[in-house]
Amino acid sequence: MSPFISELPKVELHLHIEGTLEPEMVFALAKRNGITLDYADESALQAAYQFSDLQSFLNVYYQGMQVLQTEQDFFDLTWAYLMRSQAENVRHVEIFFDPQAHTDRGVAFADVIGGIGRALAQARQQWGLTSHLIMSFLRHLSQESAFETLRQAEPFRQQLAGIGLDSAEKDNPPTKFREVYAAAAAQGYRLVAHAGEEGPASYIRDALDVLQVERIDHGVAAIHDAPLMARLAQERIPLTVCPLSNLKLRVINDMSEHPMLALLHAGLCVTVNSDDPAYFGGYMNANYAALQQGLGASNDEILQLALNSVEACWLSAAEKAVLT
Ligand code: ADE
Ligand code: ZN
Repeated sequence: MSPFISELPKVELHLHIEGTLEPEMVFALAKRNGITLDYADESALQAAYQFSDLQSFLNVYYQGMQVLQTEQDFFDLTWAYLMRSQAENVRHVEIFFDPQAHTDRGVAFADVIGGIGRALAQARQQWGLTSHLIMSFLRHLSQESAFETLRQAEPFRQQLAGIGLDSAEKDNPPTKFREVYAAAAAQGYRLVAHAGEEGPASYIRDALDVLQVERIDHGVAAIHDAPLMARLAQERIPLTVCPLSNLKLRVINDMSEHPMLALLHAGLCVTVNSDDPAYFGGYMNANYAALQQGLGASNDEILQLALNSVEACWLSAAEKAVLT
């Protein structure tokens, strides 16, 4: 690992906490909760991490997270991620969680947010790590289910900075969630959405114009749409790009094809993030290293990407100044 990357202060803006569930923890939590797994051991589970597209990953991801049942499970999951981030010099995180993936199997919303929130508070207290939490709606479910989740979140409003939209993008366009985004905006939530990961560039435009998001998660499909790229650059709309995720989910065939530097040089506010690091082969440093090794990103380009993350994050100007 290049010292330039490992020593760089980093900000993570696109991370699904359930995507940090390492095989070792799957087995530990299964044992603690009396769950029998379909896999004999950790290496058998890891061997199943061969994905052909987003859906093939989501199937494994939703299955894996079933071992998460108690408040303590969510604390342990989040704490393990935060310890890794600390070791990689990550100074601020804005993380997603998928409440419907837990409440739909009988886990209380309070236990999910309670465990995650307790770990975030402890990291802030122990080493000054700042964080924001983003509640993500599952786009393969109905808008009514998203509304129900928004209602369940009401008692926890102060712990939630924003809402997001994730899961299967194909055939689940941003327009499906128009009203629930408007309702969340009226409650003061900040708005982001996954768009243009596997879906078309038009979904990015719809996320901006219909959902009124301020940041796009992934957004790599913009590379196919020059007018959209010009707009994203002009408005400095941040894209939270995830290089190893794109490779693992076959959005690209090889890291040398990744559009990150083309987007950067076209003036877009692109950022580096890890998405679901337990499944995609690495956390923040590994994602930066993949750009350096696979795409030939220079230290200047890596620095610009890291500065973009500070620009794109939701800290105050005073808090941002400490990071740069
Ligand atoms: N949920 C977790 N990771 C995701 C991704 N990369 N795209 C869409 N939904 C997700
Ligand atoms: Zn994601």
